[in-house]
Amino acid sequence: MKPYKIALIPGDGIGPEVVAEGVKVLKAIEEVDKNISFSFTTFPWGCEYYLKYGKMMDEKALDLLKDYDAIYLGAVGYPGVPDHISLRDLLIKIRRGFDQYVNLRPVSLLHPDLTPLKAKSEKDIDMLVIRENSEGEYAGAGEWLFKGNPEEVVLQTGVFSRKGTERIIRYAYEEARKSNRTLTSISKGNALNYSHVFWDQLFEEIGMEYPDVETYSYLVDAASLYFVTQPERFGVVVTSNLFGDIVTDIGAGITGGLGLATGANINPEKSYPSMFEPVHGSAPDIAGKGACNPIAAIWSVSQMLDFFGLEDWGSAVLQVIREVLKDKESLTADLGGRATTEELGEYIIEKLIK
Ligand code: NAI
Ligand code: MG
Repeated sequence: MKPYKIALIPGDGIGPEVVAEGVKVLKAIEEVDKNISFSFTTFPWGCEYYLKYGKMMDEKALDLLKDYDAIYLGAVGYPGVPDHISLRDLLIKIRRGFDQYVNLRPVSLLHPDLTPLKAKSEKDIDMLVIRENSEGEYAGAGEWLFKGNPEEVVLQTGVFSRKGTERIIRYAYEEARKSNRTLTSISKGNALNYSHVFWDQLFEEIGMEYPDVETYSYLVDAASLYFVTQPERFGVVVTSNLFGDIVTDIGAGITGGLGLATGANINPEKSYPSMFEPVHGSAPDIAGKGACNPIAAIWSVSQMLDFFGLEDWGSAVLQVIREVLKDKESLTADLGGRATTEELGEYIIEKLIK
């Protein structure tokens, strides 16, 4: 059988530590399921590479990556390299170049102790945030005029194309229909009088084709409040690039923090590889100590398996994460446990192949 070809970009800081655990999970699956095989190629890109070669990736990076089935990324970022360079010249280049216009971020509470919200349980916090990932407020369009002068002006332009807005909203409707859940659009049409009025209009327009999907539309400020007061309002959520970035961090906050949050960058047409990564960064404060939590990165593996159509394994991995979270001793320090990154990774694998 043909192996799924996976490109690994472990990156910086704790990136390599968590990616190593995710790869072990995939290797364990390949070991027990003879119908599945994976091949891995590691690319040494990131900030250390930048300090050596003056660039975050090889110039031909996209060419080198384009024939893989998926990219598995750890994190990039390193003291000494400006964050806008590490982010824009690697992550954003891949997301853009491979038209990964869907960012899928599950916000699901996997164990009741993990939420700081009183009286909320797993059934209350179980949403899928679908963030526009290719344009919007992060399009990088704008101007910096009269730099350094008293009349200095900067413009940061949101780019909302019909094609870009339609396809993300349509993807969300499809997802809501498929999973039989409500769909909530988060926007800010009252203040962003072009871009988000347009967004709201398309949300309604496309909704005509999905009369079976129950919809809600909230302003982002109200939605942020509901995330923490009434998260049970949300099923599938669709929102713009900037708002998605922010509300998913609230999502991480109500479900156990960055050690657990994952996100997939999807090119639904599969014209290019999709990219799977934990939401957290390179965590220089704890890097190299074997102390970081590998669960977010392992949840990314679960998303990757789902994307490959191996949903049985995808849900098995997620189920094991749920189980492991019941056993506090087995967790890393961020979740109050005493395990090292590797110990927790091994514990997850042990349970998975049982
Ligand atoms: P961060 O996510 O690296 O760390 C924030 C806090 O969460 C730190 O205290 C860290 O120790 C903790 N943390 C994060 N992941 C953890 C894990 N798996 N287990 C246990 N604790 C964990 O964000 P920060 O500090 O703002 O940024 C550090 C660097 O990472 C910067 O250079 C930034 O640009 C980069 N970054 C990269 C991202 C990416 O590659 N996707 C995303 C976010 C930040
Ligand atoms: Mg973010």
